[in-house]
Amino acid sequence: MATIDSVVDAMLRAARVTDKDRVIDLGSGDGKIPIAAAKRFGAHALGIEYNQQLVELARCYARVEGLTGKVQFEQGDIFSTDFSHATVLTLYLGPTVNLKLRPKLLSMRPGTRIVSNTFDMADWQPDELIEADVGNTRAFLWIVPARVAGDWKFTEVGGSDSFTVRLQQRFQQLESSPAAQSRLAVQGGRLVGNRMEMVVQGLESDPTTLTGEVSGDRLLLATTKARTLRRYVGAPM
Ligand SMILES: C[S@@+](CC[C@H](N)C(=O)[O-])C[C@H]1O[C@@H](n2cnc3c(N)ncnc32)[C@H](O)[C@@H]1O
Repeated sequence: MATIDSVVDAMLRAARVTDKDRVIDLGSGDGKIPIAAAKRFGAHALGIEYNQQLVELARCYARVEGLTGKVQFEQGDIFSTDFSHATVLTLYLGPTVNLKLRPKLLSMRPGTRIVSNTFDMADWQPDELIEADVGNTRAFLWIVPARVAGDWKFTEVGGSDSFTVRLQQRFQQLESSPAAQSRLAVQGGRLVGNRMEMVVQGLESDPTTLTGEVSGDRLLLATTKARTLRRYVGAPM
């Protein structure tokens, strides 16, 4: 079964595919998603498919479209192929396969976009629900979150304030954490790739929103919604 054209388009648009992307379709069938990613969005694309006849068919379609320089198809099992260099992954597999893939997907580079036709990722909530214009199909978009769980020490940039905080993370959600040995408690928050926002109690005005990003092994956060702008750098403890 192949993804219908309008859904292919909606999935690639939701993932904001551009010519800078490396799109990999896991289980590429007749190759229509990698071909569309290259033809309509200018991306470099790869399809991984274990059915050799479908791989040949997809290569044939890519030749007809004059896209052989931009699209490749590999015969192989997605569970034993390295796809970690993808910036966008597309899937139309099934609930069990999605769950089996999930740990590998969560270990992709933060910011990697994953779009799945029809099948979700159980309790890993999507960042966006994709509604296609035609057809009665749902698709989902996830943005791989940075991994920030643990204890952090923050120091104010150009100031004297400092605090420690324990971050508890569940997929892209930051969950409330007790203020153990810290004046600060996290009420909640969210990661979108490397970007993060969290609401804390115990800092200046309550509650305070800290917004920023993960940069290497540092968290760069600022009180962007507060009366006084304060910047903090967090380092793992
Ligand atoms: C429903 S089709 C989707 C095809 C295409 N991605 C699309 O959306 O039009 C799923 C494809 O995944 C392939 N597939 C399933 N499990 C696979 C695996 N472990 N490794 C490689 N291909 C697999 C199947 O052979 C089939 O062609």
